[in-house]
Amino acid sequence: MDREREAAMRAKTGKPHFIRLLINMDEPDHLKFRRVIQGWFTTPKLKAFEADVRAIAKASVDHMASLGGECDFVRDVGLTYPLRVLTKLIGIPPEDELLMLRLTQELFGRQDEDLRRKSGLTHRNESNDLAEVYAEIEAYFARLTDARRRRASDDLASAIANARIDGAPIPHFEAFCLYLIVMTAGHDTTSSCTSGAIWGLCESPGELRKLKEKPELTETLVDEAIRWTNPVSHFMRSANEDVELGGRSIRKSDWLMLSYFSANNDETVFDEPERFRVDRNASRHIAFGTGAHACIGQHLARLEMRILFEDLIPRLDALELAGKPKRSASSFVGGPKPVPLRFVLR
Ligand code: HEM
Repeated sequence: MDREREAAMRAKTGKPHFIRLLINMDEPDHLKFRRVIQGWFTTPKLKAFEADVRAIAKASVDHMASLGGECDFVRDVGLTYPLRVLTKLIGIPPEDELLMLRLTQELFGRQDEDLRRKSGLTHRNESNDLAEVYAEIEAYFARLTDARRRRASDDLASAIANARIDGAPIPHFEAFCLYLIVMTAGHDTTSSCTSGAIWGLCESPGELRKLKEKPELTETLVDEAIRWTNPVSHFMRSANEDVELGGRSIRKSDWLMLSYFSANNDETVFDEPERFRVDRNASRHIAFGTGAHACIGQHLARLEMRILFEDLIPRLDALELAGKPKRSASSFVGGPKPVPLRFVLR
């Protein structure tokens, strides 16, 4: 990225980041911007949205059934199902789904040769390339904002476009950053956990039988899949004040790595953490973080996964791997890619 643009972006955030995501904000700003979207993830709002999620889940399982007993679950169901749910909630038209998928993969898949935008970039070209991805996302959502300001609709895009912060219309840059976090974090993570659940079921064959015998285990399956898949490996934080934590002294401004992966594999909390067990009480996982920045979409993610598996499991008579699953190359946000399957689905 050229130095002028880099300096301008950093000046906008007042922090060492190019963008101003909720995750990078402190109070009082953080809550002002979080409130713009949080109403869309409350229990009553999700209840009203449930019928749409159920229809999208059913279409996804029907599509899998039409594939003749073999598929790559990631490509054929895992990626498309949460993407469809989220674009519907935001108000992005179906014809733009694949564009959203590509842009998300170009952001999170930067270390993965199959997902990244360009290969073999130097460090400077790497940040130019990242700036190009941001610019493409920003231009898309600027058009959506204009459309929703001209004519509001009952969708999350209208809530962001017409939000007011401190009595004035939400600034363009902050609106783009809100769209960015909801759009990208909202489907990629859930996709990974949905595919992770299927991978886990294949790794531990007795688990599918348990689920079929006790369908109520779908609830615990969901949290176990999120713990086991762990799509967000960590976030970096800097301490706002001196603090003692676990016998360690942390000084104001120290950088800290919050490793969700480590916490979710802590053998003092989870017995045999590497094993996938549908009847494990995994609700103590912290894959959604905790505190002021705890994931705003966690109830939507759980709802989507529960509904898909409520439809899929009773129809699934056999399931096994048809090849070796892998994870995408990423040290930050990633997940299964691909999960080749052989199955019998009614
Ligand atoms: C299984 C799926 C998901 C996982 C594992 C996940 C994980 C996370 C994590 C680890 C954080 C940071 C928490 C912290 O710093 O303490 C976070 C924040 C966030 N997530 Fe999720 N997420 C998921 C799904 C979603 C969905 C479906 C949405 C929205 C549609 C979403 C939107 C957000 C937003 C907006 C934040 C920032 C909250 C803030 O800073 O106030 N996430 N998520």
